[in-house]
Order: sequence, then C-alpha cells, then structure tokens
Amino acid sequence: MLKETVLSGIRSTGFLHLGNYFGAIRNYVRMQEEYNCYFFVANWHSLTTHPDTSELRTSVHRVMAENIACGLDPEKVALYVQSDLPEIAELYLYLNTMAYKGELEKTPTFKDKVRQNPENVNAALLTYPVLMAADILIHRAVKVPVGKDQEQHLEIARNYVQRFNHRYGNVFPEPHAFNYGSKLVKILSLDGNGKMSKSENQMNTLYLADEDDQVIKKIMKAKTDSGPSTPNEEKPDYIENLFTLLREVSAPDVVKKYEDDFNNSSAGNCIIRYGDLKKQLAEDMVQFITPIREKVNAILGDENYLKSVMKIGAEKAKVSAEATITAVREAMNLNYH
Ligand code: ADP
Ligand code: TRP
Repeated sequence: MLKETVLSGIRSTGFLHLGNYFGAIRNYVRMQEEYNCYFFVANWHSLTTHPDTSELRTSVHRVMAENIACGLDPEKVALYVQSDLPEIAELYLYLNTMAYKGELEKTPTFKDKVRQNPENVNAALLTYPVLMAADILIHRAVKVPVGKDQEQHLEIARNYVQRFNHRYGNVFPEPHAFNYGSKLVKILSLDGNGKMSKSENQMNTLYLADEDDQVIKKIMKAKTDSGPSTPNEEKPDYIENLFTLLREVSAPDVVKKYEDDFNNSSAGNCIIRYGDLKKQLAEDMVQFITPIREKVNAILGDENYLKSVMKIGAEKAKVSAEATITAVREAMNLNYH
C-alpha cells in the first residue's frame, strides 16, 4: 500500500524547547516508521520576524542537529532546509493569487506578531500562511504534525487547496494537523503566560540545550498557587501544564500519587505539595534532557556530517517538489515547451 505523505517544519529562530518537542518532534519520530516523511528547517519563515541573518547559519545547524538528536533518522526521512527547495517559492507565488488579504489579516498569529513587533509589519509576515501552505503542498502532504498554535494555518492551507483545485483541476489533497494523542498539544510557558516559545520569556522556557542547574532552577520557579479549594476540582492551566510535563517524563506511579494528592486536597486540607512535585519533575526532566543535549553537541561538532545530511535531504525532497511543480504548471497552462 502507498504510504501517506507527512510534512512538518520548525523555524530557525533559536533553541528548541519542550513545546517543540512534545507538540511536534515527538510525533515526527514516531511517524517516520509509518509514513513517507518530509521534515525541514523553515529558514525563510524565520526572516519574517528575524531579519538579522548573522546567526542564521548557526541556528539552521542547531535545529537540524536537534531534530536528529531527538530521534529523526535522515536515512528514513527527507530532512532538508527550506531555502534549498526553490520550488516552494514558485508555488508560494501561485498560491498568493488565491490568498485574500482580509483573510490573512484576521489570522491570530499575524495579529500576535504585529502586536509584538509593530515596526516590522512586512508583506512576508502577512503572507506567512501562504508560504506555509506552499511548504505542505509542494509534497502534496496530507498529515502535518504540529502543535495547537498552527491549527488556523492548516485551515488556510485547505482553503487554498479548494480554491486551486476548483480553478485549475484536482492537483492537491487537503492537509490536516496531526497528533498521535486525541488533541493537538500546547505547552504553556512555566509562568503560565502564553505558550512556551523559542524567542520569548526565556527564563520560563525549558530548552533541550539547558544545563541541569538551569532546568532545576526554572522548574522550581514555575508558577503554582496555594492549592485546590475543593476535592477533584479542575486544575488551573499552569498547574495542568506541570502535570502534562510530569506525565511525559515521570513514572506512572509518581504521576498517580500527585494526581491523587491534588484530587484529595481542599481549602484547609492541602495534601498536594507543589514544592515536592516540582522537585520530582525537575529530577526527571534532567534525566530526559541531558542525553538529548549531549547528542546535539556531538552532532554540532561534526559539520561535515550535518552538511551531508542537508545535501542528501535536499536531493530527496527535490524529487517530489519537481513532480508537484510540473503538475501545477500543467494545470495552470504554464508549460510551453
Ligand atoms: P516557536 O513558536 O517556538 O518559534 P516554531 O514556530 O518553529 O516554534 O514551531 C515549531 C513546531 O513546534 C510547530 O509544530 C509548533 O506548533 C510547535 N510548538 C511550538 N511551541 C509550542 C508549544 N508551546 N506547545 C506545543 N507545540 C508547540
Ligand atoms: N509555521 C510553523 C510554526 O511557526 C513552522 C512551519 C513553517 C511549518 N512551514 C510549515 C509547520 C509547514 C508545518 C508545516 O511553527
């Protein structure tokens, strides 16, 4: 049976964190065994918010190394850099003709970025979802493993597929966001303020590159409160976030103990001790992060290996990108000889 095609990408805007890992990369690693997979470093996308390119090469190398250290096997998947595939830029141009300004202006990620950086509202920032759709459609991917923050971008990509297929004939299948669990993941920043992200709020973000003492310090400072007021109450999102992390890295009996402690606590009878929970989480998180950090450093020390991975990845990705662009040009009457 023909394997379904999967694609996802991560921007080269800094060090990867637990949101990237649990929202995206963990799925990639599992999907590589079952699907026809393309994963890439979105270095063009990073230019929309990070115009200074003096650190770009280092950042691209790091994201590559971090993907591999987390378990992606460059022999099983096509692992490449976005700018090595000019076919994406061509498809981006065509998709721009079916991308409506009003729709793009309403995108929540665009509005957030305008708020964060009002002096650099460039056209590529507005059309960020169009480039992302081109990334996906260039391989005619149907499953896109991403975190919850990317849901609207997938909806936009499906709109372009419908418009393109309607105007020019059936070239693209509809892509959908994917997660092995029941819903898409959102890891919060440790202070509970928004999602964990690469370039903001660094003291409340756990990076795969963090040293043990940083991991411990950040977790011990994570936001908690004085405990639940009634038994079995719903957890506030910043507490749920700590439990999410605990479920990921700690033993099931440890998780159960803290779940029970939380559910049996009430005002005046607080059984759960958040200090102990954080200590346990910090210890287990160090065990989780240390081997990844060490592997990343080893890979970064071997530039020739990284270069060969990027070259082979680009060659693999090119085969599928060229086939799609040929089909697109034919459908659009852009093929003349
Ligand atoms: P960042 O937002 O940190 O700059 P990217 O935009 O490059 O990271 O995102 C790469 C992948 O990681 C995407 O699939 C995105 O949905 C996922 N991701 C990023 N932050 C989180 C988070 N806090 N929780 C869950 N998934 C996330
Ligand atoms: N927009 C994604 C993010 O910010 C990164 C990305 C770019 C991407 N192109 C993609 C993700 C294509 C999935 C598929 O996280």
